[in-house]
Amino acid sequence: MTEVKKIAPALCGWTGEIDIPGDKSISHRSVMLAGLGSTPVHIKNFLHAADCLSTVGVMRALGTRVDFLKEDELTVTGRGFRGLSEPASILDAGNSGTTLRLMIGLLAPQPFFSVFTGDASLSRRPIGRVLRPLSAMGARIYGRSDNNNLPLSIVPTGRKLNGITYDSPVASAQVKSAVLLAGLYADAPTSVTEPFVSRDHTERMLTGFGIRVERTGRSVHIFPPEHEEEYRPPEEITVPGDISSAAYFLVGASIIAGSRLLLKNVGVNPTRTGILDILNEMGAHISQRNERTSGGERMADLSVEAADLHGVRFGADIMPRLIDEIPILAVAAISAEGDTVITGAGELRVKETDRLHAIATEFGKVSQGSVEELEDGLVIHGKRPVHGGQVDSHGDHRMAMSLAVLGAAAGGIDIEDPSSVNISYPSFFTQLERLSKASEE
Ligand code: S3P
Repeated sequence: MTEVKKIAPALCGWTGEIDIPGDKSISHRSVMLAGLGSTPVHIKNFLHAADCLSTVGVMRALGTRVDFLKEDELTVTGRGFRGLSEPASILDAGNSGTTLRLMIGLLAPQPFFSVFTGDASLSRRPIGRVLRPLSAMGARIYGRSDNNNLPLSIVPTGRKLNGITYDSPVASAQVKSAVLLAGLYADAPTSVTEPFVSRDHTERMLTGFGIRVERTGRSVHIFPPEHEEEYRPPEEITVPGDISSAAYFLVGASIIAGSRLLLKNVGVNPTRTGILDILNEMGAHISQRNERTSGGERMADLSVEAADLHGVRFGADIMPRLIDEIPILAVAAISAEGDTVITGAGELRVKETDRLHAIATEFGKVSQGSVEELEDGLVIHGKRPVHGGQVDSHGDHRMAMSLAVLGAAAGGIDIEDPSSVNISYPSFFTQLERLSKASEE
């Protein structure tokens, strides 16, 4: 039987303070990059969620020692810059595109054989975008004959990969990071140019680990270390809160009357803050306090209170800075005055599910005619009535959480397949229910 989660309406505003769990992208990278060192790295505020645990499983299978001290705190001890070892069995990336794509980049230059698998959703997602540049570097990666897809095998080449200059057709941090990680072991520097700059956590973390990485405009250049000792992980990494997780509360508190929330220690890396720019343009009341930098990443506390939102237009240029926030921005748009037009969002069709189609279908079930699906975007008509009903998460964590906020702000909603939230935010429903309960008291 399909699992269904009932979301109650918030009867009055969301108030108080909440802690946002660690950033998913930075958590993945902290374990991967710490695993290439030879000294223990203590990672704090790690995101203990299914996707990041896929990365932990893969790194352990490659000989890296990972010890959890608490759910969100661990030490990672590698065996050195060339210390990864051949896995005894097939590596499983689960639902995680970041694990699969970044690890392919890291494994392509290694002198051993490895095979990757993943779940049904990951097996449908494009991988050619990573294989093309890696093949140009000389990597030997083979997938299923129909679509070069999972399972994939990575075969040692017997020589160093070539440094390349790659002009990527997609603005994707996963593609860029895969090429940079392969470039870390290449025979010469590697450059990647993107149509628009995507999240730059890999570049920042590598710089913090002693690797020379330079940016010129939309291009990033990595210089492989001449001596292994140049690769020096820090003793400690504190992962900032995930702005993509904060987004559900930023939007919920903006549209539920009487709300006033403080979200502490949220990452505000400029390549991730498109959600703040668009919400502010829509008329939201969000402010940043206590700004600081930790491990090369900017953090701040965000305060948000309810406001009257209005529709906006945005497109391809801002997309990489809010790529994961379109489902929750659609919730803001449905509550706003006027129309919101989103274009240049074709990448959403190849996420955990086709998110453009999923938003149009599921939002349409509880608010008929409010969302029109475009080939590369959405038109959302604001202030149409939203009624209760049963909707489907499509097995996609960001759909499940966005639909929950939509329901909490309206008359409640029932969500099929809610456990997908475990991919990035296992405590989401508990935090949401606590806010909604507090608002009833
Ligand atoms: C991620 C990059 C983005 C994003 C994903 C995490 C990363 O994907 O959607 O959730 O950690 O590099 P693309 O780079 O493929 O757009």
